[in-house]
Amino acid sequence: MSMSFASRLGIEHPLIQAPMAGSTSPALVTAVSNAGALGSLGAGYLEPQAILDQAAQIRAVGDRPYAIGLFVLPDEFEADMAAVAKAREQLDALMEREGLDARTSLPTRWAPRFSDQFAALCEARPAVASFAFGVIAPAQLRELRQRDIYVIGTATTVAEARAWADAGADAVSLQGAEAGGHRGTFLHEAEDAMIGLFALLPLAVRAMESLGREVPLIAAGGIMDGRGMLAAEALGAAASQLGTAFLTCPECPAATAWKQDLPGVEAHQVTTIRGFSGRAARGRRNRFVEAMPQAAQGLPYPVLNALTAPLRRAAAAAGRGDLLSEWCGQAAGLVRPQPAAELVARLMHEYRLAKRSLAR
Ligand SMILES: Cc1cc2nc3c(=O)[nH]c(=O)nc-3n(C[C@H](O)[C@H](O)[C@H](O)COP(=O)(O)O)c2cc1C
Repeated sequence: MSMSFASRLGIEHPLIQAPMAGSTSPALVTAVSNAGALGSLGAGYLEPQAILDQAAQIRAVGDRPYAIGLFVLPDEFEADMAAVAKAREQLDALMEREGLDARTSLPTRWAPRFSDQFAALCEARPAVASFAFGVIAPAQLRELRQRDIYVIGTATTVAEARAWADAGADAVSLQGAEAGGHRGTFLHEAEDAMIGLFALLPLAVRAMESLGREVPLIAAGGIMDGRGMLAAEALGAAASQLGTAFLTCPECPAATAWKQDLPGVEAHQVTTIRGFSGRAARGRRNRFVEAMPQAAQGLPYPVLNALTAPLRRAAAAAGRGDLLSEWCGQAAGLVRPQPAAELVARLMHEYRLAKRSLAR
């Protein structure tokens, strides 16, 4: 893999632990970064003060580069309150039927304000800022540049990769259809932007070649081991970004039931789900997906995400993986539960072995 990407960032390995909103912790980020890869704090759901607090915890443990990931969203959301009331009724009824001791409530805000999160990110000043769901404004890009923060934009199509390159991103993370978690798609309908990484990478490489400046491409989606990293490199990726592979690390704060379910997940059980958050996301098809309240399905992100939060929290506490948003990529069955530093070392060992065996 191109060392220029890793050396530009001051990391040893061209490997990124994906920012995973709700499923990363300072402990995970520092374990990965101290092992020579790039740890990322998924801060999309965090209030600004929590971003600052977690960044301070990361800095207290070491000075290795790390990333903070945000969702690019409008600051304010209008919700159809009649639809919200109907969805709440059905979600409450579902929780009652399932014996979950929780009910929906109206939050003071549907989601943290993006511009405040952005200001906190600037103040925290990580080496890398990573964005999904949209492109940041030119003034925001300038602010990051002034602080020497490296910018990674998420794209699910070549058009989105171009949009990020035109906006001045330093690198683009290509999220293949295989990828776990929310789709980063922002220029298209999510179902039109389900492009497999083997098609997306070489198409984006060609598009970036015509730009006149180098924009490293990061491969994301279904990569679970060193062989996958090497395959991504062969197709032109400068680094690999793995999310699902890190979910079963002890440092990852994902719910225990979710971690226990992942090794047994088969690829045909992994599907695109809107019913938890109002936005397409890849995860395990479970009881919630089958029983998803009709009224909830029409609500947009982040309104539905806020309304289902009590259900997801209660399901996690009760060990009910069947009612949790068990986000994962298509290759989730290949997870290897182990400490994050060991996983990084193992991935790099496999990568080197695969490279050697192909050279023979
Ligand atoms: C639980 C989970 C949460 C995620 N949250 C985010 C996020 O907050 N920001 C982001 O840019 N990508 C997020 N992603 C997507 C990852 O960046 C990446 O595209 C994906 O994990 C790659 O596919 P894989 O899971 O098969 O490795 C998330 C993925 C997972 C599995």
